[in-house]
Amino acid sequence: MPPPSTSAKVVNVTCIGAGYVGGPTCSIIALKGGDRVRVHVVDINQQRIDAWNSDILPIYEPGLDEIVKKQRGVNLFFSTDVAGAIEEADVIFVSVNTPTKTYGIGKGCAADLKYLESAARKIAEVATSDKIVVEKSTVPVKSCEALNRILRANSDGQKFTVLSNPEFLAEGTAIKDLMNPDRVLIGGPQTPRGLSAIKTLSSLYEFWVPIDRILTTNTWSSELSKLAANAFLAQRISSINAISSICEATGADVQEVARAIGQDSRIGPKFLGASVGFGGSCFQKDILNMVYLSKSLGLNEVGEYWEQVIKMNDYQELRFSARIVKELFNTVSGKSIAILGFAFKKDTGDTRESASIYVCKHLLDEGAQLNIYDPKVSREQIIRDLTHPSISADPSRVERQVRIVDSSYEALKDTHAFAVCTEWDEFKALDYEKVFQSMLKPAFAFDGRLILDHASLQRVGFQVHAVGKKFVNSFDDDTNSPSPQKASRGGF
Ligand code: NAD
Ligand code: UGA
Repeated sequence: MPPPSTSAKVVNVTCIGAGYVGGPTCSIIALKGGDRVRVHVVDINQQRIDAWNSDILPIYEPGLDEIVKKQRGVNLFFSTDVAGAIEEADVIFVSVNTPTKTYGIGKGCAADLKYLESAARKIAEVATSDKIVVEKSTVPVKSCEALNRILRANSDGQKFTVLSNPEFLAEGTAIKDLMNPDRVLIGGPQTPRGLSAIKTLSSLYEFWVPIDRILTTNTWSSELSKLAANAFLAQRISSINAISSICEATGADVQEVARAIGQDSRIGPKFLGASVGFGGSCFQKDILNMVYLSKSLGLNEVGEYWEQVIKMNDYQELRFSARIVKELFNTVSGKSIAILGFAFKKDTGDTRESASIYVCKHLLDEGAQLNIYDPKVSREQIIRDLTHPSISADPSRVERQVRIVDSSYEALKDTHAFAVCTEWDEFKALDYEKVFQSMLKPAFAFDGRLILDHASLQRVGFQVHAVGKKFVNSFDDDTNSPSPQKASRGGF
Protein backbone atom coordinates (compact mmCIF):
# COMPACT_ATOMS: atom_id res chain seq x y z
CA MET A 1 0.00 0.00 0.00
CA PRO A 2 1.31 3.49 -0.81
CA PRO A 3 1.95 5.77 2.17
CA PRO A 4 -0.96 8.22 2.51
CA SER A 5 -0.09 11.76 1.69
CA THR A 6 0.35 14.14 4.57
CA SER A 7 0.60 17.30 2.49
CA ALA A 8 -2.50 19.49 2.81
CA LYS A 9 -2.56 20.23 -0.91
CA VAL A 10 -2.71 16.61 -2.03
CA VAL A 11 -6.12 15.03 -2.37
CA ASN A 12 -6.14 11.32 -1.58
CA VAL A 13 -8.49 9.60 -3.99
CA THR A 14 -9.55 5.99 -3.66
CA CYS A 15 -11.54 4.09 -6.25
CA ILE A 16 -13.35 0.89 -5.30
CA GLY A 17 -13.65 -1.20 -8.47
CA ALA A 18 -10.76 -1.58 -10.92
CA GLY A 19 -12.81 -2.23 -14.03
CA TYR A 20 -13.46 -0.54 -17.37
CA VAL A 21 -14.47 2.67 -15.58
CA GLY A 22 -12.39 2.70 -12.40
CA GLY A 23 -9.06 1.89 -14.10
CA PRO A 24 -9.12 4.41 -16.97
CA THR A 25 -10.85 7.19 -15.00
CA CYS A 26 -8.34 7.03 -12.16
CA SER A 27 -5.41 6.81 -14.56
CA ILE A 28 -6.49 10.11 -16.08
CA ILE A 29 -7.07 11.75 -12.69
CA ALA A 30 -3.54 10.67 -11.71
CA LEU A 31 -2.07 11.89 -15.00
CA LYS A 32 -3.79 15.26 -14.92
CA GLY A 33 -3.60 15.85 -11.16
CA GLY A 34 0.13 15.14 -10.99
CA ASP A 35 1.58 15.86 -7.56
CA ARG A 36 -1.70 17.40 -6.34
CA VAL A 37 -3.39 14.04 -6.19
CA ARG A 38 -2.67 10.51 -5.05
CA VAL A 39 -4.87 7.79 -6.48
CA HIS A 40 -5.37 4.29 -5.13
CA VAL A 41 -7.51 1.87 -7.14
CA VAL A 42 -8.66 -1.22 -5.24
CA ASP A 43 -10.61 -4.34 -6.10
CA ILE A 44 -11.53 -7.62 -4.46
CA ASN A 45 -10.41 -9.44 -7.59
CA GLN A 46 -6.74 -10.29 -7.04
CA GLN A 47 -6.21 -11.43 -10.62
CA ARG A 48 -7.48 -8.13 -11.98
CA ILE A 49 -5.23 -6.14 -9.65
CA ASP A 50 -2.23 -8.31 -10.58
CA ALA A 51 -2.96 -7.52 -14.22
CA TRP A 52 -3.15 -3.76 -13.51
CA ASN A 53 0.29 -4.12 -11.91
CA SER A 54 1.71 -6.10 -14.86
CA ASP A 55 2.72 -5.33 -18.44
CA ILE A 56 -0.54 -6.73 -19.79
CA LEU A 57 -3.40 -4.65 -18.41
CA PRO A 58 -6.73 -6.38 -17.78
CA ILE A 59 -8.54 -4.24 -20.34
CA TYR A 60 -7.61 -3.07 -23.80
CA GLU A 61 -8.12 0.65 -24.42
CA PRO A 62 -6.11 2.65 -26.96
CA GLY A 63 -3.75 5.00 -25.11
CA LEU A 64 -4.29 3.45 -21.66
CA ASP A 65 -1.04 1.44 -21.45
CA GLU A 66 1.21 4.48 -21.77
CA ILE A 67 -0.64 6.44 -19.09
CA VAL A 68 -0.73 3.58 -16.58
CA LYS A 69 2.94 2.84 -17.12
CA LYS A 70 3.80 6.52 -16.62
CA GLN A 71 1.80 7.05 -13.40
CA ARG A 72 1.90 3.62 -11.76
CA GLY A 73 4.03 3.73 -8.59
CA VAL A 74 4.23 7.54 -8.84
CA ASN A 75 0.77 8.74 -7.85
CA LEU A 76 -1.31 5.79 -9.08
CA PHE A 77 -1.48 2.54 -7.14
CA PHE A 78 -3.45 -0.68 -7.63
CA SER A 79 -4.06 -3.11 -4.77
CA THR A 80 -6.57 -5.35 -3.02
CA ASP A 81 -6.17 -3.43 0.23
CA VAL A 82 -9.72 -2.07 0.21
CA ALA A 83 -9.73 -1.20 3.91
CA GLY A 84 -6.40 0.65 3.81
CA ALA A 85 -7.45 2.60 0.74
CA ILE A 86 -10.72 3.65 2.35
CA GLU A 87 -8.97 4.80 5.48
CA GLU A 88 -6.44 6.99 3.65
CA ALA A 89 -8.98 8.59 1.29
CA ASP A 90 -10.52 12.05 1.21
CA VAL A 91 -12.66 11.15 -1.79
CA ILE A 92 -13.87 7.60 -2.50
CA PHE A 93 -15.19 6.72 -5.95
CA VAL A 94 -17.43 3.66 -5.96
CA SER A 95 -17.09 2.19 -9.41
CA VAL A 96 -18.30 -1.35 -8.95
CA ASN A 97 -20.44 -3.35 -11.37
CA THR A 98 -24.21 -2.92 -11.25
CA PRO A 99 -25.46 -5.74 -13.50
CA THR A 100 -29.06 -6.71 -14.18
CA LYS A 101 -30.47 -8.93 -11.42
CA THR A 102 -30.52 -12.62 -12.30
CA TYR A 103 -32.64 -13.72 -9.34
CA GLY A 104 -35.56 -12.74 -7.14
CA ILE A 105 -37.72 -9.66 -7.39
CA GLY A 106 -36.91 -7.65 -10.50
CA LYS A 107 -35.01 -10.57 -12.08
CA GLY A 108 -33.96 -9.73 -15.64
CA CYS A 109 -34.79 -6.04 -15.24
CA ALA A 110 -33.76 -4.32 -12.00
CA ALA A 111 -30.14 -3.41 -11.25
CA ASP A 112 -28.36 -5.69 -8.82
CA LEU A 113 -26.96 -3.33 -6.23
CA LYS A 114 -25.30 -5.92 -4.02
CA TYR A 115 -21.77 -4.87 -5.02
CA LEU A 116 -22.57 -1.22 -4.39
CA GLU A 117 -24.07 -2.02 -1.03
CA SER A 118 -21.13 -4.18 0.02
CA ALA A 119 -18.72 -1.37 -0.92
CA ALA A 120 -20.82 1.07 1.15
CA ARG A 121 -20.83 -1.27 4.14
CA LYS A 122 -17.05 -1.64 3.88
CA ILE A 123 -16.62 2.13 3.85
CA ALA A 124 -18.87 2.46 6.90
CA GLU A 125 -17.01 -0.32 8.70
CA VAL A 126 -13.51 0.96 8.06
CA ALA A 127 -13.63 4.76 7.85
CA THR A 128 -12.54 6.68 10.93
CA SER A 129 -12.69 10.18 9.39
CA ASP A 130 -15.07 12.22 7.20
CA LYS A 131 -15.29 11.06 3.57
CA ILE A 132 -16.79 12.23 0.32
CA VAL A 133 -18.31 9.11 -1.27
CA VAL A 134 -18.85 9.38 -5.00
CA GLU A 135 -21.31 7.11 -6.75
CA LYS A 136 -19.57 6.51 -10.11
CA SER A 137 -21.42 3.32 -10.99
CA THR A 138 -24.62 3.64 -13.00
CA VAL A 139 -27.53 3.14 -10.64
CA PRO A 140 -31.30 3.59 -10.34
CA VAL A 141 -32.53 7.00 -9.23
CA LYS A 142 -32.42 7.37 -5.45
CA SER A 143 -29.48 4.98 -4.96
CA CYS A 144 -27.47 7.79 -3.35
CA GLU A 145 -30.14 7.90 -0.70
CA ALA A 146 -29.69 4.19 0.03
CA LEU A 147 -25.90 4.66 0.20
CA ASN A 148 -26.37 7.58 2.53
CA ARG A 149 -28.60 5.62 4.85
CA ILE A 150 -26.23 2.66 5.06
CA LEU A 151 -23.30 4.97 5.78
CA ARG A 152 -25.14 7.07 8.37
CA ALA A 153 -26.60 4.06 10.13
CA ASN A 154 -23.10 2.64 10.62
CA SER A 155 -21.22 5.85 11.35
CA ASP A 156 -19.26 6.39 14.57
CA GLY A 157 -19.58 10.12 14.27
CA GLN A 158 -17.71 10.54 10.96
CA LYS A 159 -19.58 12.49 8.30
CA PHE A 160 -20.16 10.97 4.88
CA THR A 161 -21.28 13.13 1.98
CA VAL A 162 -22.60 11.12 -0.94
CA LEU A 163 -22.41 12.57 -4.45
CA SER A 164 -23.51 11.25 -7.82
CA ASN A 165 -20.91 11.55 -10.57
CA PRO A 166 -21.90 9.21 -13.40
CA GLU A 167 -19.39 8.28 -16.08
CA PHE A 168 -20.09 8.84 -19.78
CA LEU A 169 -16.98 7.30 -21.36
CA ALA A 170 -17.44 4.79 -24.14
CA GLU A 171 -15.21 1.75 -24.45
CA GLY A 172 -12.63 1.87 -27.22
CA THR A 173 -12.48 5.66 -26.90
CA ALA A 174 -12.30 5.86 -23.09
CA ILE A 175 -9.06 7.83 -22.96
CA LYS A 176 -10.19 10.33 -25.58
CA ASP A 177 -13.57 10.69 -23.83
CA LEU A 178 -11.98 11.18 -20.41
CA MET A 179 -9.38 13.66 -21.69
CA ASN A 180 -11.97 15.75 -23.46
CA PRO A 181 -15.41 15.06 -21.98
CA ASP A 182 -18.54 16.73 -23.38
CA ARG A 183 -19.43 17.29 -19.76
CA VAL A 184 -18.74 16.12 -16.23
CA LEU A 185 -21.88 15.76 -14.16
CA ILE A 186 -21.92 16.12 -10.39
CA GLY A 187 -25.11 15.80 -8.38
CA GLY A 188 -25.27 16.33 -4.66
CA PRO A 189 -27.24 17.64 -1.74
CA GLN A 190 -27.88 21.36 -1.97
CA THR A 191 -26.73 21.90 1.63
CA PRO A 192 -23.58 23.70 2.80
CA ARG A 193 -21.79 20.34 3.34
CA GLY A 194 -23.12 18.99 0.03
CA LEU A 195 -22.04 22.08 -1.89
CA SER A 196 -18.60 22.01 -0.32
CA ALA A 197 -18.19 18.32 -1.31
CA ILE A 198 -19.29 19.15 -4.86
CA LYS A 199 -16.60 21.86 -4.92
CA THR A 200 -13.91 19.40 -3.80
CA LEU A 201 -14.92 16.83 -6.41
CA SER A 202 -15.17 19.50 -9.08
CA SER A 203 -11.63 20.67 -8.24
CA LEU A 204 -10.30 17.22 -9.21
CA TYR A 205 -11.81 17.54 -12.68
CA GLU A 206 -10.72 21.16 -12.99
CA PHE A 207 -7.14 19.83 -13.31
CA TRP A 208 -8.04 19.43 -16.98
CA VAL A 209 -11.75 20.00 -17.70
CA PRO A 210 -12.92 23.58 -18.44
CA ILE A 211 -15.23 24.75 -15.67
CA ASP A 212 -18.12 25.42 -18.06
CA ARG A 213 -18.21 21.71 -18.86
CA ILE A 214 -18.64 20.72 -15.22
CA LEU A 215 -22.38 20.62 -14.58
CA THR A 216 -23.80 20.47 -11.10
CA THR A 217 -27.35 19.36 -10.34
CA ASN A 218 -29.34 17.86 -7.54
CA THR A 219 -28.57 14.22 -6.83
CA TRP A 220 -31.62 12.68 -8.48
CA SER A 221 -31.21 14.66 -11.70
CA SER A 222 -27.65 13.41 -11.97
CA GLU A 223 -28.62 9.77 -11.43
CA LEU A 224 -31.50 9.99 -13.90
CA SER A 225 -29.43 11.86 -16.51
CA LYS A 226 -27.05 8.91 -16.77
CA LEU A 227 -29.86 6.43 -17.44
CA ALA A 228 -31.53 8.89 -19.80
CA ALA A 229 -28.34 9.52 -21.79
CA ASN A 230 -27.82 5.81 -22.42
CA ALA A 231 -31.50 5.31 -23.22
CA PHE A 232 -31.45 8.16 -25.77
CA LEU A 233 -28.27 6.86 -27.42
CA ALA A 234 -29.61 3.30 -27.67
CA GLN A 235 -32.96 4.60 -28.88
CA ARG A 236 -31.24 6.33 -31.82
CA ILE A 237 -29.58 3.07 -32.84
CA SER A 238 -32.84 1.15 -32.60
CA SER A 239 -34.55 3.87 -34.61
CA ILE A 240 -32.04 3.74 -37.45
CA ASN A 241 -32.08 -0.06 -37.30
CA ALA A 242 -35.87 0.02 -37.66
CA ILE A 243 -35.35 2.21 -40.73
CA SER A 244 -32.73 -0.26 -42.01
CA SER A 245 -35.34 -2.99 -42.24
CA ILE A 246 -37.55 -0.74 -44.37
CA CYS A 247 -34.52 0.04 -46.56
CA GLU A 248 -33.79 -3.64 -47.15
CA ALA A 249 -37.39 -4.19 -48.21
CA THR A 250 -37.66 -1.16 -50.47
CA GLY A 251 -34.28 -0.33 -51.96
CA ALA A 252 -33.76 2.84 -49.93
CA ASP A 253 -30.19 2.97 -48.59
CA VAL A 254 -29.86 3.39 -44.82
CA GLN A 255 -26.58 5.31 -45.06
CA GLU A 256 -28.16 7.78 -47.46
CA VAL A 257 -31.16 8.14 -45.17
CA ALA A 258 -28.89 8.61 -42.11
CA ARG A 259 -26.94 11.30 -43.96
CA ALA A 260 -30.12 13.05 -45.03
CA ILE A 261 -31.70 13.11 -41.58
CA GLY A 262 -28.44 13.65 -39.71
CA GLN A 263 -27.83 16.86 -41.66
CA ASP A 264 -30.80 18.34 -39.82
CA SER A 265 -29.11 20.20 -36.99
CA ARG A 266 -31.97 19.26 -34.67
CA ILE A 267 -31.21 15.55 -35.24
CA GLY A 268 -27.42 15.60 -35.78
CA PRO A 269 -25.25 12.96 -37.46
CA LYS A 270 -23.95 10.87 -34.53
CA PHE A 271 -25.26 7.48 -33.44
CA LEU A 272 -27.14 6.92 -36.68
CA GLY A 273 -24.97 3.99 -37.75
CA ALA A 274 -27.24 1.08 -38.63
CA SER A 275 -25.71 -2.18 -37.46
CA VAL A 276 -26.28 -5.78 -36.54
CA GLY A 277 -27.41 -4.41 -33.16
CA PHE A 278 -25.96 -2.57 -30.22
CA GLY A 279 -24.09 -4.48 -27.52
CA GLY A 280 -22.00 -3.60 -24.53
CA SER A 281 -22.46 -3.99 -20.83
CA CYS A 282 -24.62 -0.94 -20.35
CA PHE A 283 -27.24 0.00 -22.95
CA GLN A 284 -29.50 -2.98 -22.34
CA LYS A 285 -28.85 -3.05 -18.59
CA ASP A 286 -29.53 0.64 -18.14
CA ILE A 287 -32.69 0.64 -20.24
CA LEU A 288 -33.98 -2.36 -18.32
CA ASN A 289 -33.18 -0.41 -15.19
CA MET A 290 -35.24 2.51 -16.51
CA VAL A 291 -38.09 0.17 -17.46
CA TYR A 292 -38.10 -1.30 -13.96
CA LEU A 293 -37.96 2.12 -12.37
CA SER A 294 -40.84 3.41 -14.53
CA LYS A 295 -43.02 0.40 -13.82
CA SER A 296 -42.23 0.53 -10.10
CA LEU A 297 -43.44 4.13 -10.16
CA GLY A 298 -46.69 2.99 -11.81
CA LEU A 299 -45.60 4.49 -15.15
CA ASN A 300 -46.31 1.40 -17.24
CA GLU A 301 -46.61 3.19 -20.57
CA VAL A 302 -43.23 4.83 -20.00
CA GLY A 303 -41.68 1.46 -19.20
CA GLU A 304 -43.19 -0.09 -22.31
CA TYR A 305 -41.94 2.78 -24.45
CA TRP A 306 -38.30 2.14 -23.46
CA GLU A 307 -38.75 -1.62 -23.63
CA GLN A 308 -39.31 -1.29 -27.37
CA VAL A 309 -35.72 -0.07 -27.81
CA ILE A 310 -34.46 -3.44 -26.59
CA LYS A 311 -37.06 -5.42 -28.52
CA MET A 312 -35.97 -3.67 -31.73
CA ASN A 313 -32.35 -4.54 -30.96
CA ASP A 314 -33.17 -8.22 -30.40
CA TYR A 315 -35.14 -8.16 -33.64
CA GLN A 316 -32.19 -6.65 -35.54
CA GLU A 317 -29.80 -9.38 -34.35
CA LEU A 318 -32.29 -12.08 -35.25
CA ARG A 319 -33.12 -10.46 -38.61
CA PHE A 320 -29.43 -10.36 -39.58
CA SER A 321 -28.99 -14.03 -38.72
CA ALA A 322 -32.23 -14.99 -40.49
CA ARG A 323 -31.10 -13.16 -43.61
CA ILE A 324 -27.93 -15.25 -43.69
CA VAL A 325 -30.00 -18.43 -43.48
CA LYS A 326 -32.47 -17.25 -46.13
CA GLU A 327 -29.79 -16.17 -48.61
CA LEU A 328 -27.88 -19.41 -48.17
CA PHE A 329 -30.86 -21.22 -49.76
CA ASN A 330 -32.81 -21.48 -46.50
CA THR A 331 -30.35 -23.72 -44.74
CA VAL A 332 -26.97 -23.31 -43.10
CA SER A 333 -26.95 -26.74 -41.56
CA GLY A 334 -23.43 -28.15 -41.97
CA LYS A 335 -22.32 -25.02 -43.86
CA SER A 336 -19.22 -23.14 -42.86
CA ILE A 337 -19.56 -19.47 -41.98
CA ALA A 338 -16.80 -17.10 -40.90
CA ILE A 339 -17.69 -14.68 -38.12
CA LEU A 340 -15.45 -11.63 -38.33
CA GLY A 341 -15.44 -9.89 -34.96
CA PHE A 342 -16.73 -10.94 -31.57
CA ALA A 343 -16.23 -7.80 -29.44
CA PHE A 344 -19.28 -5.54 -29.06
CA LYS A 345 -17.46 -2.77 -30.95
CA LYS A 346 -13.99 -2.17 -32.35
CA ASP A 347 -10.98 -1.24 -30.22
CA THR A 348 -12.11 -3.20 -27.20
CA GLY A 349 -11.79 -6.81 -26.11
CA ASP A 350 -15.10 -6.56 -24.25
CA THR A 351 -17.79 -8.98 -25.41
CA ARG A 352 -20.54 -8.22 -22.89
CA GLU A 353 -23.92 -8.37 -24.71
CA SER A 354 -22.07 -8.34 -28.04
CA ALA A 355 -24.40 -8.76 -31.03
CA SER A 356 -21.91 -11.35 -32.29
CA ILE A 357 -22.88 -13.70 -29.46
CA TYR A 358 -26.51 -13.67 -30.54
CA VAL A 359 -25.74 -14.00 -34.26
CA CYS A 360 -23.55 -17.01 -33.43
CA LYS A 361 -26.26 -18.47 -31.22
CA HIS A 362 -28.89 -18.21 -33.97
CA LEU A 363 -26.56 -19.74 -36.56
CA LEU A 364 -25.48 -22.54 -34.22
CA ASP A 365 -29.16 -23.30 -33.57
CA GLU A 366 -29.52 -23.65 -37.36
CA GLY A 367 -26.65 -26.16 -37.43
CA ALA A 368 -23.94 -23.96 -38.97
CA GLN A 369 -20.21 -24.56 -38.51
CA LEU A 370 -18.61 -21.30 -37.38
CA ASN A 371 -15.04 -20.07 -37.76
CA ILE A 372 -14.73 -17.15 -35.36
CA TYR A 373 -11.98 -14.54 -35.39
CA ASP A 374 -11.54 -11.40 -33.31
CA PRO A 375 -8.23 -9.53 -32.96
CA LYS A 376 -8.69 -8.77 -29.25
CA VAL A 377 -11.01 -11.38 -27.75
CA SER A 378 -9.45 -14.50 -26.30
CA ARG A 379 -10.48 -18.02 -27.27
CA GLU A 380 -11.50 -18.68 -23.64
CA GLN A 381 -13.80 -15.66 -23.59
CA ILE A 382 -15.56 -16.70 -26.82
CA ILE A 383 -16.11 -20.19 -25.44
CA ARG A 384 -17.37 -18.77 -22.14
CA ASP A 385 -19.86 -16.57 -23.96
CA LEU A 386 -21.16 -19.26 -26.30
CA THR A 387 -21.49 -21.91 -23.62
CA HIS A 388 -23.24 -19.62 -21.16
CA PRO A 389 -26.53 -21.27 -20.07
CA SER A 390 -28.53 -18.32 -21.47
CA ILE A 391 -27.03 -18.97 -24.91
CA SER A 392 -26.82 -22.74 -25.13
CA ALA A 393 -28.62 -25.60 -23.48
CA ASP A 394 -25.97 -27.91 -24.93
CA PRO A 395 -22.46 -26.53 -24.36
CA SER A 396 -20.87 -29.49 -26.16
CA ARG A 397 -22.17 -28.14 -29.47
CA VAL A 398 -19.54 -25.40 -29.28
CA GLU A 399 -16.92 -28.12 -29.43
CA ARG A 400 -18.63 -29.66 -32.46
CA GLN A 401 -19.62 -26.52 -34.34
CA VAL A 402 -17.15 -23.77 -33.44
CA ARG A 403 -13.55 -23.19 -34.47
CA ILE A 404 -11.78 -20.16 -33.03
CA VAL A 405 -8.92 -19.06 -35.23
CA ASP A 406 -6.06 -16.58 -35.20
CA SER A 407 -6.58 -14.62 -38.42
CA SER A 408 -9.28 -13.45 -40.79
CA TYR A 409 -7.82 -15.45 -43.68
CA GLU A 410 -7.85 -18.62 -41.62
CA ALA A 411 -11.47 -17.96 -40.64
CA LEU A 412 -12.54 -17.33 -44.23
CA LYS A 413 -10.86 -20.31 -45.92
CA ASP A 414 -13.30 -22.92 -47.28
CA THR A 415 -16.39 -21.16 -45.98
CA HIS A 416 -19.70 -20.56 -47.76
CA ALA A 417 -20.16 -17.11 -46.26
CA PHE A 418 -18.74 -14.53 -43.94
CA ALA A 419 -20.46 -12.08 -41.62
CA VAL A 420 -18.84 -8.90 -40.32
CA CYS A 421 -20.14 -8.47 -36.78
CA THR A 422 -17.57 -5.99 -35.38
CA GLU A 423 -16.23 -3.01 -37.31
CA TRP A 424 -12.50 -3.70 -36.81
CA ASP A 425 -10.44 -1.65 -39.29
CA GLU A 426 -8.42 -4.71 -40.32
CA PHE A 427 -11.53 -6.24 -41.94
CA LYS A 428 -11.64 -3.32 -44.37
CA ALA A 429 -8.07 -3.95 -45.45
CA LEU A 430 -8.32 -7.65 -46.35
CA ASP A 431 -7.41 -8.78 -49.86
CA TYR A 432 -10.92 -9.78 -50.90
CA GLU A 433 -9.72 -11.25 -54.24
CA LYS A 434 -7.63 -13.68 -52.23
CA VAL A 435 -10.51 -14.24 -49.81
CA PHE A 436 -12.89 -14.98 -52.69
CA GLN A 437 -10.46 -17.53 -54.17
CA SER A 438 -10.26 -19.31 -50.82
CA MET A 439 -14.02 -19.61 -50.29
CA LEU A 440 -16.65 -22.03 -51.57
CA LYS A 441 -18.90 -20.73 -54.36
CA PRO A 442 -21.20 -18.95 -54.50
CA ALA A 443 -19.38 -16.92 -51.86
CA PHE A 444 -21.56 -14.72 -49.67
CA ALA A 445 -20.61 -11.56 -47.79
CA PHE A 446 -22.86 -10.20 -45.03
CA ASP A 447 -21.82 -6.80 -43.77
CA GLY A 448 -23.41 -6.17 -40.37
CA ARG A 449 -21.39 -3.00 -39.82
CA LEU A 450 -21.44 -1.25 -43.19
CA ILE A 451 -17.65 -1.05 -43.36
CA LEU A 452 -16.93 -2.88 -46.61
CA ASP A 453 -16.77 -1.62 -50.19
CA HIS A 454 -19.81 -3.47 -51.47
CA ALA A 455 -19.38 -2.54 -55.14
CA SER A 456 -15.85 -3.85 -55.20
CA LEU A 457 -16.86 -7.06 -53.39
CA GLN A 458 -19.52 -7.61 -56.03
CA ARG A 459 -16.96 -7.00 -58.78
CA VAL A 460 -14.75 -9.64 -57.19
CA GLY A 461 -17.69 -12.05 -57.38
CA PHE A 462 -19.29 -12.05 -53.94
CA GLN A 463 -23.02 -12.21 -53.34
CA VAL A 464 -23.24 -9.18 -51.08
CA HIS A 465 -25.79 -8.36 -48.38
CA ALA A 466 -25.56 -5.51 -45.91
CA VAL A 467 -27.69 -4.03 -43.16
CA GLY A 468 -30.09 -1.47 -44.58
CA LYS A 469 -29.21 -2.11 -48.21
CA LYS A 470 -30.84 -4.00 -51.01
CA PHE A 471 -28.41 -5.17 -53.67
CA VAL A 472 -28.94 -6.98 -56.92
CA ASN A 473 -26.53 -9.89 -56.88
CA SER A 474 -25.87 -11.97 -59.93
CA PHE A 475 -25.38 -15.69 -60.34
CA ASP A 476 -25.81 -15.31 -64.08
CA ASP A 477 -22.34 -15.23 -65.55
CA ASP A 478 -19.12 -17.13 -64.90
CA THR A 479 -17.42 -14.41 -62.92
CA ASN A 480 -20.51 -13.23 -61.03
CA SER A 481 -19.35 -9.71 -61.75
CA PRO A 482 -22.21 -7.24 -61.82
CA SER A 483 -22.22 -3.73 -63.20
CA PRO A 484 -20.65 -1.33 -60.69
CA GLN A 485 -23.88 0.56 -60.05
CA LYS A 486 -25.45 -2.57 -58.60
CA ALA A 487 -23.91 -1.86 -55.23
CA SER A 488 -23.29 1.47 -53.61
CA ARG A 489 -19.91 2.27 -52.07
CA GLY A 490 -19.53 1.22 -48.48
CA GLY A 491 -17.27 2.65 -45.84
CA PHE A 492 -13.86 2.57 -47.60
P1 NAD B 1 -16.41 -3.96 -14.26
O1 NAD B 1 -17.18 -5.18 -14.03
O2 NAD B 1 -15.41 -3.90 -15.37
O3 NAD B 1 -15.62 -3.55 -12.92
C1 NAD B 1 -16.20 -3.52 -11.65
C2 NAD B 1 -15.17 -4.00 -10.64
O4 NAD B 1 -15.69 -3.82 -9.33
C3 NAD B 1 -14.84 -5.49 -10.75
O5 NAD B 1 -13.45 -5.65 -11.02
C4 NAD B 1 -15.25 -6.08 -9.39
O6 NAD B 1 -14.37 -7.09 -8.93
C5 NAD B 1 -15.15 -4.85 -8.51
N1 NAD B 1 -15.93 -4.96 -7.29
C6 NAD B 1 -17.23 -5.36 -7.13
N2 NAD B 1 -17.59 -5.28 -5.84
C7 NAD B 1 -16.51 -4.82 -5.16
C8 NAD B 1 -16.28 -4.50 -3.79
N3 NAD B 1 -17.24 -4.64 -2.88
N4 NAD B 1 -15.06 -4.07 -3.43
C9 NAD B 1 -14.08 -3.92 -4.35
N5 NAD B 1 -14.25 -4.19 -5.67
C10 NAD B 1 -15.46 -4.62 -6.06
O7 NAD B 1 -17.49 -2.79 -14.44
P2 NAD B 1 -17.33 -1.44 -15.29
O8 NAD B 1 -17.56 -1.72 -16.74
O9 NAD B 1 -16.10 -0.73 -14.87
O10 NAD B 1 -18.62 -0.65 -14.78
C11 NAD B 1 -18.68 -0.15 -13.47
C12 NAD B 1 -19.90 0.76 -13.39
O11 NAD B 1 -19.75 1.86 -14.28
C13 NAD B 1 -21.22 0.07 -13.78
O12 NAD B 1 -22.24 0.59 -12.98
C14 NAD B 1 -21.42 0.53 -15.21
O13 NAD B 1 -22.78 0.58 -15.56
C15 NAD B 1 -20.85 1.92 -15.21
N6 NAD B 1 -20.31 2.38 -16.51
C16 NAD B 1 -19.60 1.53 -17.29
C17 NAD B 1 -19.05 2.02 -18.49
C18 NAD B 1 -18.26 1.12 -19.40
O14 NAD B 1 -17.88 1.58 -20.48
N7 NAD B 1 -17.95 -0.10 -19.04
C19 NAD B 1 -19.22 3.36 -18.85
C20 NAD B 1 -19.95 4.19 -18.00
C21 NAD B 1 -20.48 3.69 -16.82
C1 UGA C 1 -22.05 3.66 -24.11
C2 UGA C 1 -22.22 5.18 -24.16
O1 UGA C 1 -21.83 5.64 -25.45
C3 UGA C 1 -21.35 5.87 -23.11
O2 UGA C 1 -21.60 7.27 -23.10
C4 UGA C 1 -21.70 5.28 -21.73
O3 UGA C 1 -20.87 5.86 -20.74
C5 UGA C 1 -21.50 3.78 -21.74
O4 UGA C 1 -22.35 3.20 -22.79
C6 UGA C 1 -21.91 3.11 -20.48
O5 UGA C 1 -22.68 3.66 -19.71
O6 UGA C 1 -21.41 2.01 -20.32
P1 UGA C 1 -20.26 1.92 -24.98
O7 UGA C 1 -21.34 0.93 -24.73
O8 UGA C 1 -18.92 1.65 -24.41
O9 UGA C 1 -20.70 3.36 -24.43
O10 UGA C 1 -20.04 2.11 -26.54
P2 UGA C 1 -20.90 2.85 -27.68
O11 UGA C 1 -19.96 3.54 -28.57
O12 UGA C 1 -22.00 3.66 -27.13
O13 UGA C 1 -21.50 1.62 -28.49
C7 UGA C 1 -22.51 0.80 -27.94
C8 UGA C 1 -23.00 -0.16 -29.00
O14 UGA C 1 -23.76 0.53 -29.98
C9 UGA C 1 -21.89 -0.88 -29.74
O15 UGA C 1 -22.24 -2.20 -29.98
C10 UGA C 1 -21.81 -0.10 -31.05
O16 UGA C 1 -21.28 -0.86 -32.10
C11 UGA C 1 -23.26 0.22 -31.26
N1 UGA C 1 -23.49 1.40 -32.15
C12 UGA C 1 -23.00 2.61 -31.80
C13 UGA C 1 -24.24 1.24 -33.30
O17 UGA C 1 -24.70 0.13 -33.61
N2 UGA C 1 -24.46 2.34 -34.10
C14 UGA C 1 -23.99 3.57 -33.77
O18 UGA C 1 -24.23 4.53 -34.54
C15 UGA C 1 -23.24 3.71 -32.60
